[in-house]
Amino acid sequence: MPFTNIELARQALAPVSRQAAAEGIVLLENIDNTLPLHTGSRVSLFGRCQIDTVRSGTGSGGAVNVPYSVNALEGLNSHPSIEVNQELVSAYQSWLDQHPFDDGGGGWAAEPWFQQEMPLDKETIERASQQSDHALVFIGRTAGEDQDNSDEAGSYRLTDIEYQMLCQVCEQFNSVVVILNVTNIVDMSWMESVTKPESIKAVLYSWAAGMEGGHALADVLSGDLSPSGKLADTIAFELSDYPSHANFGNKDKNLYQEDIYSGYRYFATFKPEAVRYAFGEGLSYTQFKRKLIAHSIEGRGNTRAVHFHIEVTNTGNQYSGKEVVQLYVEAPQGKLGKPARSLAGFGKTRMLSPNESELVRIVVPLEVLASYDDSGVTGHKSCYVLEAGRYDFYLGGSVREATLVDAPFNVDTLQVIEQLSESAAPVESFLRIKPVQSSQDGRFSIEHESVPTRNVDMQARIESRLPESIELTGDKGIKLQHVANGKASLTDFVAQFSPSMLATIVRGEGMCSPKVTPGTAAAFGGVSDALFDLGIPVAAAADSPSGIRMDSGHKATQVPIGTLLGCTWNTELNEHLFYLVGGELQSYQIDTLLGPGINIHRHPLNGRNFEYFSEDPLLTGSMAAAQVSGLKSAGVSGTIKHFAANDQETSRFFVDAVMSERALREVHIKPFEIAVKKGGATTIMTSYNPINGHWGASHYDLNTTLLRGEWGFDGIVMSDWWAKMNHPVTGGEESKTYTSYMVRAQNDLYMVVDNDGAERNAMDDDTLSALEAGQLTLGELQRSAMNICRFILSTPAMQRPLVRYNPIKPFNACDEQPEGSVHTIDGAVALETKNDTNIVLHVTKAGQYQVSMNASYDRNELAQSSCSLHLNGNYSMSLSTNGTEGKPVDVEGLIVELQTGWYELDVSFVKPGLTLHHLNFKQV
Ligand code: BGC
Repeated sequence: MPFTNIELARQALAPVSRQAAAEGIVLLENIDNTLPLHTGSRVSLFGRCQIDTVRSGTGSGGAVNVPYSVNALEGLNSHPSIEVNQELVSAYQSWLDQHPFDDGGGGWAAEPWFQQEMPLDKETIERASQQSDHALVFIGRTAGEDQDNSDEAGSYRLTDIEYQMLCQVCEQFNSVVVILNVTNIVDMSWMESVTKPESIKAVLYSWAAGMEGGHALADVLSGDLSPSGKLADTIAFELSDYPSHANFGNKDKNLYQEDIYSGYRYFATFKPEAVRYAFGEGLSYTQFKRKLIAHSIEGRGNTRAVHFHIEVTNTGNQYSGKEVVQLYVEAPQGKLGKPARSLAGFGKTRMLSPNESELVRIVVPLEVLASYDDSGVTGHKSCYVLEAGRYDFYLGGSVREATLVDAPFNVDTLQVIEQLSESAAPVESFLRIKPVQSSQDGRFSIEHESVPTRNVDMQARIESRLPESIELTGDKGIKLQHVANGKASLTDFVAQFSPSMLATIVRGEGMCSPKVTPGTAAAFGGVSDALFDLGIPVAAAADSPSGIRMDSGHKATQVPIGTLLGCTWNTELNEHLFYLVGGELQSYQIDTLLGPGINIHRHPLNGRNFEYFSEDPLLTGSMAAAQVSGLKSAGVSGTIKHFAANDQETSRFFVDAVMSERALREVHIKPFEIAVKKGGATTIMTSYNPINGHWGASHYDLNTTLLRGEWGFDGIVMSDWWAKMNHPVTGGEESKTYTSYMVRAQNDLYMVVDNDGAERNAMDDDTLSALEAGQLTLGELQRSAMNICRFILSTPAMQRPLVRYNPIKPFNACDEQPEGSVHTIDGAVALETKNDTNIVLHVTKAGQYQVSMNASYDRNELAQSSCSLHLNGNYSMSLSTNGTEGKPVDVEGLIVELQTGWYELDVSFVKPGLTLHHLNFKQV
């Protein structure tokens, strides 16, 4: 499909987004088959999120400007078979008029996790209960970047008033359905503690489902669609039960003592009794039977795979539905120790009518069964091995319910599956957990062992792999298009770059660069005249996992959050959804989406869990591979992020994720490996935080040894925005200006420097000084330039007409003087505002004016904010700044060409937060 029309792209995407939103709803309780609601059911809706339905999280991962959004009430109201108690709706609506949605001022990470609830009196509920058959109670939560959730009322726990609402409603209604419209899992102890808990008949996580969420909810509650979502995380009774709990939220470092026993792997091995709802759990309106029909071992040697043919039958008699087939493995403990269960494969059926069956094939390659020996205890250090013994498989509806199938895979003697080299090991030793099995009852208890530390001489490793420098040729007339046509090699092309051009191309510009689609996160590639003259187009990158973020206010489709999409367990659907998101990106001339986010849900309070899929690496990796493939088939790319271990927001710039090489490989970077090898990812974003002492953007082993060396990645690696780097060998102090360490590690692109600041080295980075001092080689810099150009060759930017960036935009004056306060532009136009403002500009001298703003933003350096200017109703530019800790800064914008006369100037704060002190119009 040619994607040139924004409207058509959106029309194609909306219904698939709705389908995905419905497939990710997880139904956890459905006593007496309360759901679906029978035709003509009368329902009373409680909780303001029926109207203020949470659509996504906050921060870069949720900031999509949507053309419309369907809330839960609208979804239910528009369904013919559901009758909503409108009297109660009116009560909520009038209360909401007085208590509008609190966006915390709209700034970065400012939106509160919860919204004040309407207090209820007994009479209102009593009356509602007389008028309806069921109560639907909505609990809403958001979460986001730069701020973790907390174990407090209003975040992980219910507020007093929410709790009271639930108690009061349960007292009066015999049938209560609780709808968790949340971004993260929440405490569920209210299920037992509320008054008359037996009134709670159904509980579901509807998550934050994007702009079609209300329709999707109605689809499921009405029974038009049977729920088929399954939990992508474990819901434990207590937060303290999670294995990472003791090492989460620290400011300087977190020891990953849970090692590979994250999420359900820990619970299934050591603490099954602590689980309220298990990983993989989720009900349907119908029932399914799963039967192993056949299994076989196919292939040769280490590329062998166990193939399972599982027949799934819808054994219900009323509803159609889809079922997720989950296959877990229990590997022999051997010397390394293994989780009692880990997900080995999964599949989802098509929609099955009653009595219909489908044969689902699950292929488990040996590598999925193998474990990484980081200590040498098996005699095979740095290898993925299959230890000798029996590998048992469990088939079921969740990790808890899965039952043993008669298909053991026996390994007589240890087999080395892959010989690798030690990479990214920790430099400090600490204790990690390991199972020890009782010979009496077979139960596991925890023992501790020391984590092996780094043996590799990093200096020698880096030096032994330094790329050859290419002799500089100067301009030979080779354009990038010649490389695309096969008329010149990439090497000859890059040989034309001077050192200064090389240093420029490794800098991206943003946010809201005027060189690309307005309001996007970055421009990169041909960002200077010299680079552009070689035919390198400027490519655009835009946030984020749940849709396109354009801080200019341009509209895009918001799809469900990552966690919901993970709960679909549907790779085909994810692929299709992101193929269509790719269409929208194409129509907006954006080349890469800064998503999917694929960090592991290590702890339920991580503020950005919503952007990520799951606590399981295979599920996460499979979803990521599917989305990346979908985006690729639309001609754009998905930037998998954040590589690696961006597992909390507290101190995200500094906190060191200290983990064993085994945990890193088997859990935390496994999704990236899958997305690269299976999804063909070509763009990756490193994380802000250090991993085992090295900041992500300067981590040599992550970016070079593993990513490119082992996994064969040949795309670009970009840093997170305004990232820091430290020494790839010795670690130590970090700085944003250490781009030489970044290039050495093969993180190709620094994101971001000021707009139009790449060539003049606005950030004052050390690339060229390190090159001159011999601390960085020309070959290394050329290698990154080639990575960037190779990627750009694959982008739609190559197909677009090469248009030189022109910073001058002409605007016609109004015919008559508009109403409003008049400012003459012969000096600074004082505004002193944080809010949308309209003024009249009086131009007495026609000419070209350089626009700049003077603004301050009382937040940290990672907070983002921007405002956009419209002249006479026409978009002119977006000016953005990150947090300035309150200090005023100047931000340069475009040059506008103005006639003598009057102009209406609208200043809008799409991403609020900054205070705009004044706008300058300097004649040039
Ligand atoms: C986030 C990234 C995001 C980038 C650009 C950073 O703060 O960590 O995930 O893509 O900003 O908005």
